[in-house]
Amino acid sequence: MMNFTPKQSPLILGIESSCDETAAAVIRGRELLSDEIASSAATQAKFGGVVPEIASRAHAEAVDEVVARALRNAGVKKEELDAVAVTYGAGLLGALLVGLSFAKGFSYGLGIPLIGVDHIRGHLAAAYLEDASLEPPFLTLLASGGHTAILYTERADAFRVLGGTLDDAVGEAFDKVARVLSLPYPGGPHVEALAREGRAVVPMPKMLKSRGGYDFSYSGLKTAVINYVHTKEQKGEAWSRADVAASFQSAALDILVQKTVEGARETGAKMVTAGGGVVANGYLRERLAAVCKETGLRLVLPAKKHCTDNAAMIAAEGLVQYRLGRFSPLTINAEASIPLVRG
Ligand code: KG4
Ligand code: ZN
Repeated sequence: MMNFTPKQSPLILGIESSCDETAAAVIRGRELLSDEIASSAATQAKFGGVVPEIASRAHAEAVDEVVARALRNAGVKKEELDAVAVTYGAGLLGALLVGLSFAKGFSYGLGIPLIGVDHIRGHLAAAYLEDASLEPPFLTLLASGGHTAILYTERADAFRVLGGTLDDAVGEAFDKVARVLSLPYPGGPHVEALAREGRAVVPMPKMLKSRGGYDFSYSGLKTAVINYVHTKEQKGEAWSRADVAASFQSAALDILVQKTVEGARETGAKMVTAGGGVVANGYLRERLAAVCKETGLRLVLPAKKHCTDNAAMIAAEGLVQYRLGRFSPLTINAEASIPLVRG
């Protein structure tokens, strides 16, 4: 298809359109040159969630301009690019297809490799942008709107899942609890802000579902919050929204911190990373930092803007695949879901 000579520090354009963010970024090696994002979240908020058709239309309207901005702000001409990395799944099919088709056009037109990126691997790769020397092995906490897991990355192309949620993802739980507390979508940042005003004094259920294991459940926690609020309202008793937010937040996140450290101990990993929208949470970041310091683990956390959906992380995972020489055919299709490999 093309003449390919791998470069040490390739110029990679990343494109992300799996949900409600249209994003594009350019990296040279691990150096981030530009990082652009257009979001339809404000429109989506009116509907209390993401409406797929609105997301697809917003991507189609934004993608051209967002990519142009990413190239312009990076000071790069498209002809200089060495590869284009794009999210092919998991996500909303219509939304994914906008970014994927755009990236295919770029790859074909410029004669450069196309790298289809699994969105979740993008979240895991975000930490690489934070530390140019970061290399596996490391233990990773993945906490997003769709996934919650503790992973051990042995090599750049091989990770093992130690365990994770048996039902809802932690971000999903934040979004559901936000609704109960009459907070807007996406709920995570609003619950975090409200929790800062409260104290974790409301009893919450146990999160862990197997003794000494890594499997936890968020659906019981969500139900406990709903029941607490309904009971208080039925009885006409006063209750504190901020205390509920703080109690939920610590129950939801303390278990992740604890299991991350146990995972590092079990695998012998000396380094810990994290990724996914929930890792933007200040309480989680502080707890992780404190516990890693106490236990002598090195912690590399992506910048908050690289925890929630962005294209820099897609470019970063693109670099991992580029170095492995793994490219995608132009026939690659969008995938609504991609299983998290268990090993
Ligand atoms: O990784 P992400 O942007 O999208 C997925 O790939 O799922 O994660 C979105 C999730 C949402 O559930 C959102 O409420 C949550 O991350 N989130 C947060 C915070 N910021 C975003 N949860 C808790 N605290 C936050 N500050
Ligand atoms: Zn995501």
